[in-house]
Amino acid sequence: MPDGEPAPRDGSLPAAALRSLGERPFGVYVHVPFCATRCGYCDFNTYTPGELGTSASPQSWLEGLRRELDLAATVLGSVPRAETVFVGGGTPSLLGAQGLADVLAAVRDAFGLARGAEVTTEANPESTSPEFFAGLLEAGYTRVSLGMQSAVPHVLRVLDRVHTPGRPLAAAREALDAGFEHVNVDLIYGTPGERPEDLRASLEAVGEVIADGVDHVSAYALIVEDGTAMARKVRSGVIPAPDDDVLAGYYEMVDDYLTGCGFSWYEVSNWARSADAECRHNLGYWLGGDWWGAGPGAHSHVGGVRWWNVKHPARYAERLRAGDSPAAGRELLTDEDRYLERVMLELRLARGLPRDALDDAGRRAAEDAVRDGLLEPGEWAAGKAVLTRRGRLLADGVVRRLAG
Ligand SMILES: C[S@@+](CC[C@H](N)C(=O)[O-])C[C@H]1O[C@@H](n2cnc3c(N)ncnc32)[C@H](O)[C@@H]1O
Ligand code: SF4
Repeated sequence: MPDGEPAPRDGSLPAAALRSLGERPFGVYVHVPFCATRCGYCDFNTYTPGELGTSASPQSWLEGLRRELDLAATVLGSVPRAETVFVGGGTPSLLGAQGLADVLAAVRDAFGLARGAEVTTEANPESTSPEFFAGLLEAGYTRVSLGMQSAVPHVLRVLDRVHTPGRPLAAAREALDAGFEHVNVDLIYGTPGERPEDLRASLEAVGEVIADGVDHVSAYALIVEDGTAMARKVRSGVIPAPDDDVLAGYYEMVDDYLTGCGFSWYEVSNWARSADAECRHNLGYWLGGDWWGAGPGAHSHVGGVRWWNVKHPARYAERLRAGDSPAAGRELLTDEDRYLERVMLELRLARGLPRDALDDAGRRAAEDAVRDGLLEPGEWAAGKAVLTRRGRLLADGVVRRLAG
């Protein structure tokens, strides 16, 4: 969690932050902090039933969520309609279609949805079914994001990922058959022990559902997060750490395969069939939009103020029951913070970072990066910094060079 100042108990925001509300896209993120089991690589703010005991439940969470959304409507005053909603986790699909319908109803009650709003939920293939997808569609969801990670049993085992063989592909097809136009699958590459032929098999599995209509793929290099079961295994030598050169080669495999399927990258780790298939909610984060993140541990950003909620579901529900904001801390972004953030996020997008957004030192560094083959020369000449594929492999380093 970032350092910051304490957040006010009533959740209020400085008038300056509210002034430009509505000028940027407004999104709502809802964090569902429940999982059936914990995958060994994952450090998201999520809890298994054993970890929670009787301290919190989906019911106490939903009551808290409703209270937080009411608070949000009061704090924001003239309430912007949500152009995007993203229910993430954790495992939102554990709530079932009715639970997720209740979540969306709570968002609608507080903010209303803009016409044509994008409404996504993440889902773990194991807790989905044809009825589940039909129920989501009926409730107003427009997009589903499925955690597949790999199609190869020995890779899934290293990830501590429990999947019935074939279930992720079946879930993607069920979502499409129910009528979802926008379906994403998440992949993880570079798991220790994953061979090129394993990644190839996962990509070919994804290719099958792309042929059926899946229109978006997110592929992430495995990160060994501190404090996870996987980090302990790496430290004790039970499994090796992912190798940077292997990860770079695997990124190229993913990019080649998805490009061959007619997809284009639009963010370093995200590919889509067309502009219409891009995730508008995530674009909102990357383009400096405003969003209210509701739920335990959720982060929000409105007009240069960033805040984050208490992480534990029991503390979250208690705070709201007492009539207080669940925010644990906040940060007022300085111009320098905003500059750094803009370079960091927009440079990762295929649409690129406008040259005018860079200061003099940044522009000089970009000229060097063009010479080093990290930025596209034609795009730079046309006024934008756009990563080449080599640049995408070294994106963090390019950001450091440009942001100084
Ligand atoms: C928090 S999960 C939510 C989806 C759902 N719980 C599931 O796992 O099916 C979102 C995505 O983050 C990615 N992810 C989580 N931890 C990661 C890690 N340590 N390294 C790389 N990707 C990770 C996975 O691809 C996962 O699907
Ligand atoms: S990867 Fe998904 S299912 Fe696994 S622990 Fe994390 S949030 Fe839960």
